[in-house]
Amino acid sequence: MVESPLVKTLLTTSAPEAAEFLRRGELVAFPTETVYGLGANAFDAAAVERIFVAKSRPADNPLIVHVASIGEVARVTREITPLADRLIGAFFPGPLTIVLPRSADVPDIVTGGLETVAVRMPRHLVALELLGAAGFPLCAPSANRSGRPSPTTWSAVIDDLGGRIACVLQGKATEIGLESTVVDARGDEAVILREGGLPAEEIARVARVRFPAAGEEAPASPGTRYRHYAPSAQVRRVVNPEEVRASRDAAFIGFHHPKGAAEFARCRVVADAAEMARELFAFFRECDANAVRTIYAELPAEEGIGRAIRDRLERAERR
Ligand code: TXA
Ligand code: MG
Repeated sequence: MVESPLVKTLLTTSAPEAAEFLRRGELVAFPTETVYGLGANAFDAAAVERIFVAKSRPADNPLIVHVASIGEVARVTREITPLADRLIGAFFPGPLTIVLPRSADVPDIVTGGLETVAVRMPRHLVALELLGAAGFPLCAPSANRSGRPSPTTWSAVIDDLGGRIACVLQGKATEIGLESTVVDARGDEAVILREGGLPAEEIARVARVRFPAAGEEAPASPGTRYRHYAPSAQVRRVVNPEEVRASRDAAFIGFHHPKGAAEFARCRVVADAAEMARELFAFFRECDANAVRTIYAELPAEEGIGRAIRDRLERAERR
């Protein structure tokens, strides 16, 4: 893969200024309610190519196209199924990505050559301002180097991509902290390809939900094949914090105080699963910056956002 040439990365809080870069085919990182994204004009194949270079991302991992309005979904898809229509009505804008047949206007590089395209309308005001100022949809993966945890702050974006992208549109730390839920909406059941910010239970209130059968997931959502969401430290999932052994090169994140909390290099006790989702990736990064070798993470209950956290922890532990 080609290495990214060094460029000056502008930090700004002005969406119109950031949109200028997008119009010139450059990359702009921006906040959404889930995680920070790395955006390029979705209709400009050369601009999209730069995303793969900046992130060192495998070319067969397709990107999510972000739109400014519900009406724009039709600009990038060939067909909006009745199921998609219901999901859009209930959850757009928000942390849900739907997969639909792609329109011919979407370049191959966006979809990794698939016949489908993933679409989402973020509900973050800064993201919507940027999309509005640009006037075209933005394809945007999470704004991390491939294989690292998704960034939830603009400074985490700079740590990974500073000098590799033209601009970072600054916002606050992201509200949800995990990526969007990805759903295949081509049929009459919502097939959950990736759990995320919108819990499956919420989707089940408006549609029939199912999870992919074994072997079905990999071709449908190529990204789930790759190492993802993982810190350099080894993650160990914990059911009972009483059983964790504290040490100076270990860290803990969970809902209960572990034994010997003060002995850990880092120890974070959170109130609930929503707070854990919000904190998790920043905690991973903080641990890596402090040479932590093992991160013990207490598992949340298998419900709501807890399901997405369990998925990320499972992937991080497996590596
Ligand atoms: O919250 C999010 O979704 C963030 C923000 C920036 O919107 N974006 C994000 O993008 O997490 P990324 O590239 O890190 O993850 C996109 C996921 C991958 O698992 C990819 O394989 C899947 O969506 N995906 C993209 N296009 C697809 C398609 N046509 N069919 C199936 N899966 C697709
Ligand atoms: Mg990602």
